[in-house]
Amino acid sequence: MTLVNIRPATSTDLPWIMSVETQAFTGGWSDQSWSDEIRNHVVLLASIASIQQGADVPVGVLALSMVAGTAEVLRIIVVPEARRRTVGRVLLEYGICEMVQQGASEVFLEVSAENQAAIGLYENFGFAQIDRRTSYYGPGDDALVYRWTTTPTNCPSLDGEGPTLSTTRRSDHV
Ligand SMILES: CC(C)(COP(=O)(O)OP(=O)(O)OC[C@H]1O[C@@H](n2cnc3c(N)ncnc32)[C@H](O)[C@@H]1OP(=O)(O)O)[C@@H](O)C(=O)NCCC(=O)NCCS
Repeated sequence: MTLVNIRPATSTDLPWIMSVETQAFTGGWSDQSWSDEIRNHVVLLASIASIQQGADVPVGVLALSMVAGTAEVLRIIVVPEARRRTVGRVLLEYGICEMVQQGASEVFLEVSAENQAAIGLYENFGFAQIDRRTSYYGPGDDALVYRWTTTPTNCPSLDGEGPTLSTTRRSDHV
């Protein structure tokens, strides 16, 4: 069982966030962009309880925004050594359900058509593709636009669960 702890990011997390950002993306978000996200939107950090051992060692980050009742997934990164252990899914579920609790009924995102891991994560979560923007990220690199809509059952209440969510599909050890 993997226990994933989730907490809001603060400006003191910026060095760690920038280290995973630059590892995951070339020419990605700047320090200033992430700082703006932390200040103006929702940025959540995930850590795995089993490797935490008293210290808060992040393994994933998620950035979301909500404008006029419409939420958007802006960024999600899990460190390579913690991937395929449900951290991305748990982060996404926690973040999206927070948006739903704040009044969102649908969530949008866009992703490179080349990014099979992210597409797998989003489709597995229940996002449906609604558009394709040809060469949006550059010549030959299309963007896929996805939407997720809430139903009475796809976002169970987080009340009483606190910041720790558990999943049962992966081992405890990174
Ligand atoms: C995309 C990403 C966040 C997924 O995180 P993760 O913690 O490994 O994802 P999970 O373990 O929660 O996977 C949940 C489901 O997503 C899908 N998935 C995850 N990684 C996948 C991959 N490499 N290929 C295909 N499907 C994948 C699967 O359906 C998976 O369920 P399963 O493991 O039972 O098959 C991670 O690969 C990552 O950080 N990539 C680099 C950054 C990035 O591209 N972010 C997205 C754009 S901002």
